Amino acid sequence: MPSFRIPATAAAFGAALLLAAATPAMAASPLAKAVTHGEYLFAHATFGGNGRTCDTCHVGGGKMPGKVGGHTIPSLINAAAIFPRYNMRAHKVVTLEDQIVHCIQGGLKGKPPAYGSADLTDLTAYLGHIAHGQPMDIGGKPK
Ligand code: HEC
Repeated sequence: MPSFRIPATAAAFGAALLLAAATPAMAASPLAKAVTHGEYLFAHATFGGNGRTCDTCHVGGGKMPGKVGGHTIPSLINAAAIFPRYNMRAHKVVTLEDQIVHCIQGGLKGKPPAYGSADLTDLTAYLGHIAHGQPMDIGGKPK
């Protein structure tokens, strides 16, 4: 797992912002910035954990089927359209934010951003963005 230095990550984030600004519909509005930063976190943030990022398991920015160990898991393409959902292991209804926090604690072995923080909101915004056009199917199956 490569480690990213601050200047490199800042440069990559800057480049990503420029890309977002280049898309007319996504001109750097606050929402576009949140989505772009969420995408950046998804690919690069380790949250002080074991060096994994979201993309380690949810490959291709979460848009492709993921891989964990030797197993394939569904993409995150409709994740934002199927939460909140009942989680049998947790015995409760969980939100998309709860699931992200769960993956940061379990998959990344990291310290999750606080509820209400910009980082958690931005990751949620990114997942909402990649789910654009997916039918709302609360409690439905991942694709
Ligand atoms: C070590 C592998 C691993 C990493 C890293 C990981 N996840 Fe996951 N993620 C999973 C697995 C496995 C599932 C499916 C079952 C579960 O809930 O444990 C999942 C499920 C999800 C789901 C629900 C998908 C659905 O449609 O039901 C979301 C959303 C999600 N992860 C987001 C993230 C985000 C955001 C990150 C980075 C902060 C992340 N994950 C990091 C393994 C991982």
